[in-house]
Amino acid sequence: MPVADSYILAPCTCFASTVFNGHMTTPDAPTAPVDPTTTEAWAALEAHDLELEGSLREWFAEDPERAARFTHGAADLHVDLSKNLITPETLELLLQLSREVGVEERRDAMFAGAHINTTEDRAVLHTALRRPAGASPALTVDGQDIDADVRGTLERVYAFARKVRSGEWTGVTGKRIETVVNIGIGGSDLGPVMVYEALKPHAQEGLEARFLSNIDPTDAYETTRGLDPETTLVIIASKTFTTLETLTNARLVRSWLLDGLRESAGLRAEQEQEAVAKHFVAVSTALDKVAEFGIDPENAFGFWDWVGGRYSVDSAIGTVLATVLGPEVFEELLAGFHAMDEHFATAPAEQNVPLLMGLLNIWNVNFLEAETHAVLPYSQYLHRFPAYLQQLTMESNGKAVRWDGSLATTETGEVFWGEPGTNGQHAFYQLIHQGNRVIPADFIAFATPDHALADGEQDVHELFLANFFAQTKALAFGKTAEEVRAEGTEGALVAAREFSGDRPTTSIMAPKLTPSVLGQLIALYEHITFVQGTVWGINSFDQWGVELGKQLAKELAGAVAGDEEKIAAEDASTEGLIRYYRAHREG
Ligand code: F6P
Repeated sequence: MPVADSYILAPCTCFASTVFNGHMTTPDAPTAPVDPTTTEAWAALEAHDLELEGSLREWFAEDPERAARFTHGAADLHVDLSKNLITPETLELLLQLSREVGVEERRDAMFAGAHINTTEDRAVLHTALRRPAGASPALTVDGQDIDADVRGTLERVYAFARKVRSGEWTGVTGKRIETVVNIGIGGSDLGPVMVYEALKPHAQEGLEARFLSNIDPTDAYETTRGLDPETTLVIIASKTFTTLETLTNARLVRSWLLDGLRESAGLRAEQEQEAVAKHFVAVSTALDKVAEFGIDPENAFGFWDWVGGRYSVDSAIGTVLATVLGPEVFEELLAGFHAMDEHFATAPAEQNVPLLMGLLNIWNVNFLEAETHAVLPYSQYLHRFPAYLQQLTMESNGKAVRWDGSLATTETGEVFWGEPGTNGQHAFYQLIHQGNRVIPADFIAFATPDHALADGEQDVHELFLANFFAQTKALAFGKTAEEVRAEGTEGALVAAREFSGDRPTTSIMAPKLTPSVLGQLIALYEHITFVQGTVWGINSFDQWGVELGKQLAKELAGAVAGDEEKIAAEDASTEGLIRYYRAHREG
């Protein structure tokens, strides 16, 4: 779709920022995206796509340097892009596209605190959450001393966490805390639960975390089942402190806790406030609402509107992690994030892994017509990583409108999905190997296992990694009809057993799944998401698309409860479904 010339600004003039008196000043927000389809690089990429000849088999045979050429380091990550459907020219053109739409300028603007979240008129500063103490120059944005506020909150979170971990903080009956229940949803749940699962071996003995997110009452029932209210601490995590699911679950758990304490410890009405103060803390940007809920402001940890929910696991939203895994582990996680931030901010474009991976996704989506992207961690501890990435990527880039309100000019927001290997191999890999869709996939693995086990003589981690290596090899190079025949297969079976190859994959390896490496991985995908959003002209930091459903759910409550007039006013399908519910509900 053509865009008025006046919308197209020279990118580097939009985001000027300066260092003044040792403080970085806030740059201007960008005014309009560059339409990627109007760039010279886009036209060249279209032509290149049509002219591209050969196969991964041929390209590897022709260029012995191919693997080295397309493999890069980013902090502790070793990233091999060579099994993607690219040539050196593809990457050159993608980097030209990046320059023409101003990715690096917008990146710098984001790091400096420009209001690049235009629809909410906010800075986007999750990268400030992991700046090391004493980082220079200090970051002041919109008059806020960001570094001081971030560090100040972290110190409060850590002090609280240490008290819980040492047993100094007890429940109202004096018992030590054994379980921390985090109540939150979306970014207030997916990040914490994913990191907790990934770093479980670091949990303090005798202290576990549970996570309650869904408004399905089964979730509250199952999460509290078997817990002792006297040894349970609840963290209500909600950026807005208005989210229906979280507040409903918080009230349910408060009732469960107070009822339990009445029963087990004879809690009296006048002790309830003290019990809530000892068993409930909150994390939010809306500390006034936290107080209304009855939580002692002393026990509330804040963050700021410049942290998007899905970018918030490294803010006070990680209080459950600092408590159960420990402040030291959380600091290491933050250091990992920061290492990747530094790489993204400073590595030359040709070796900048988040930039290259974001641009590769553009190539796959907009030129090779991929509609989905699989993320396949060969690490059981990363089993929630794909779910976490779904919110990060799809809530960020699942949009058809650009940041100036005009329509996107290309396909945007591919579907991210995945499962840990090797489970996925026995479920959906068939489609990736032999289906007729392009499904780019990121394979993630670690050299050192968390638990080295042997099956007789066989090191099981080696068997696991053999699968990791085998899959990307099979996807890249396939199996020709001649190779199938050479194994003695004849006739129609040959085609069924043939693998075309040329299925694009990226392999990401690291020495071990440490807290730092996990932080690096998360930040890598945050920045990949940013790069894609910038090329598409999308504001990756708002989420208006989830509002309508929330609003309608509230409006439908009366009809669901049986208000005949409201039921009759619904569309025929919704009316029929509500009537079915009302006819079949037991109890
Ligand atoms: O799903 C919409 C959303 O606003 C997410 O962006 C956010 O992570 C989630 O709801 C939870 O919001 P809150 O932290 O404000 O409860």
